[in-house]
Amino acid sequence: MVVFVNSQKLRFHCDYKVLQVNCVCVFKKQTGIHRTMSLENFTTIFEQLTPKPKSVLILLLEGKDDEEISQEIGATEATVRKHVQNLCDRFEVPSEIAGIKKNRRQELIALTAQYLPDIAKNRAFAPEKVRFASSLPSFSQNPQDWGGAPDASVFYGRSDELSTLQQWIVEENCRLIALLGMAGIGKTTLSVKLAQNIQEKFDRVIWRSLRGIPSLNYLLADLIQFFSKQANPNLSDRVDLNIFQLLECFRRDRCLVILDSFDAILSHGDFAGHYQDAHKDYSQLLKRIGQEPHQSCLILTSLEKPREIALLEGETLPVRSLQLEGLGSAAKELLRAKGLSAEQRWGTLIKLYRGNPLALKIVASTIQELFEGNVADFLDMSLTGIVQDIIFW
Ligand SMILES: Nc1ncnc2c1ncn2[C@@H]1O[C@H](COP(=O)(O)OP(=O)(O)OP(=O)(O)O)[C@@H](O)[C@H]1O
Ligand SMILES: [Mg+2]
Repeated sequence: MVVFVNSQKLRFHCDYKVLQVNCVCVFKKQTGIHRTMSLENFTTIFEQLTPKPKSVLILLLEGKDDEEISQEIGATEATVRKHVQNLCDRFEVPSEIAGIKKNRRQELIALTAQYLPDIAKNRAFAPEKVRFASSLPSFSQNPQDWGGAPDASVFYGRSDELSTLQQWIVEENCRLIALLGMAGIGKTTLSVKLAQNIQEKFDRVIWRSLRGIPSLNYLLADLIQFFSKQANPNLSDRVDLNIFQLLECFRRDRCLVILDSFDAILSHGDFAGHYQDAHKDYSQLLKRIGQEPHQSCLILTSLEKPREIALLEGETLPVRSLQLEGLGSAAKELLRAKGLSAEQRWGTLIKLYRGNPLALKIVASTIQELFEGNVADFLDMSLTGIVQDIIFW
């Protein structure tokens, strides 16, 4: 049974579609309540949320615990719990239904699992007007804004990738770079490490995640406020004028922007790299950053390659992409840190999980729990088929 639960968890992390489907099924099954809030009401409240609570909600839906959420949004666990409580209040999640006590957090997740996929599909994240400027994070003169970037102090391997990317950005002045790869392979972690390594070469650095699915105008307002160094920059309702203003900043200063989880706004449909209807205007942003002259750089991380990157990239062009593979033997450090034994078999385990650090972390915990950390016992047992659910995710 534990094995099954863990394999579910692996799939959650490794495939966004499976994640969505499983979340809806699992949470519906777990709570079994009937909800009275309409999609319309849910959407209205969701749209009014500022980026942090929005991210908390999405991370909850992804099955993250308080500790993981606190790392992702750069807040304490107590703040995360406060956000969850506020979200329950905002969405009027009851603590009791028909006299039966309910877990409000689970109810909130179930409600979100029920409606969030519809919101994304129906283009419910309408391009907000400049009213959103008032909900932007407060203005800061600090030349770096890491906006909830996860901690990358524990970092193994990737020296080739780092030197390639540094060469592209610092020596060859690339304007637009995509870090691509399967879920959990380490795109976000590498983006943080890279940005930390090269921050000195830039006047200003900003790191943002698109997991909260911001409208492009919201994101542009955030970036323009940061790069223009003005608390109240003159923003337009028109995306093209705001992109123009951002590019002015990109020409004047050397700016570094990291947009993590760019795939959050892609359609996940049959055509790779296409946008959800609601977010087609992001295409304009990438095109103009990739094509127009300036001295700045946008790095994005994504499961899929956005089509503009595919159209504009080239070995000697200022638009490039890097496909991330597994950690290889550097993953041994990760297994060591998890306190596993039978080192002679670690290579097999790493190969089995294609060096995917997230998958290895999860399976390492399982091995620790069920096999007292012994990788050989785990691998031998896998031949019996008992743990095949874990292996073949
Ligand atoms: N080079 C590394 N050294 C140590 N740990 C790593 C490394 N790369 C990734 N990890 C760990 O693996 C996990 C997944 O990494 P990360 O979140 O960066 O993956 P991702 O590709 O961005 O995943 P997703 O597609 O879900 O956003 C994290 O817990 C992270 O700390
Ligand atoms: Mg990521």
